Amino acid sequence: MNNKKKHQTVLLKETIQSLKIKKNGIYVDGTFGEGGHSIKILEKLGENGTLYAIDQDPEAIKIAKKITDHRFHIIHGNFAEIDLFFKKNKIKKKIDGIILDLGVSTMQIMSKKRGFSFNLDGPLDMRMNPKIGISASKWINQEKINKIYKVLKYFGEEKFSKRIAEAIKKTRKKKPIITTLELSNLIKSHIPWEKRHKHPATKSFQAIRIFINQEINLLKIFLDKILKFLNYKGRISIISFHSLEDRLVKQFMIKNSKNPHFLNKIPLKENEILQLYQKKLKIIHRIFPTKKEIINNPRSRSAILRTAELKN
Ligand SMILES: C[S@@+](CC[C@H](N)C(=O)[O-])C[C@H]1O[C@@H](n2cnc3c(N)ncnc32)[C@H](O)[C@@H]1O
Repeated sequence: MNNKKKHQTVLLKETIQSLKIKKNGIYVDGTFGEGGHSIKILEKLGENGTLYAIDQDPEAIKIAKKITDHRFHIIHGNFAEIDLFFKKNKIKKKIDGIILDLGVSTMQIMSKKRGFSFNLDGPLDMRMNPKIGISASKWINQEKINKIYKVLKYFGEEKFSKRIAEAIKKTRKKKPIITTLELSNLIKSHIPWEKRHKHPATKSFQAIRIFINQEINLLKIFLDKILKFLNYKGRISIISFHSLEDRLVKQFMIKNSKNPHFLNKIPLKENEILQLYQKKLKIIHRIFPTKKEIINNPRSRSAILRTAELKN
């Protein structure tokens, strides 16, 4: 790590309250990061409680391994593979609560060598797990320009995505784009940035990071499998920072909280009968950070916490 600035956990109090922690419950922190949520969960748990924490970043795992607490278990991997971890570790019990605090940690952003920051010069990598997939630099130098344009537009909602993609095309013909500053300077010099509030490369860097780490796909996969692991009255709390993520979480909670629309229809088809027996959620709340939190921690400005509880 190049900078020791600590991660300020977003919506910490609200997330912990939202889990309604039972002393002897089993909990999962799917995005350990620097442990902000995990530490608080451990404080609330009793002697017989359990916390499983997951992170795909080896640097986060190093931090987690410093926690010596018999109730705490760290798993290196992706939360979308929670079923595999449970199987591998022979965990048969259902969980009483799970949290996801999506996005990047301060440790990741502030490390030059990870390539997440448009301000810090370093290799353009952006992988949360550097052993999986390809680096942002490799992708940007070899991908079709139309695909780059779509990634910037879809994941970054970047107004100038076409212009940026064209600039990437021209530049990489002369020389591959290797570093974070090469990319952020290129973006800065091709869009009318002085009128904007944020750094002109903000949206493009976010879009590329989301694509490289397959963040939206993995969240979808996770949501598709998580209900079968939740205990009766178990809670799921997710903090998202991007409108696409939040939409997925919202739709997941709404879809699983409604009764199927064919209740009065007879006879029912087999898949309709199965839907009747599917587990149902009760939506608990949606919480935004306060003005005070946003001033103290600007990274929290786009955060939304959604919580739901399993009814049956
Ligand atoms: C915003 S940070 C979490 C911060 C943490 N709540 C804290 O207070 O320190 C997000 C963390 O989740 C991890 N992460 C993101 N997506 C993941 C995924 N699909 N599977 C596992 N870990 C993931 C990242 O590597 C990062 O460490």
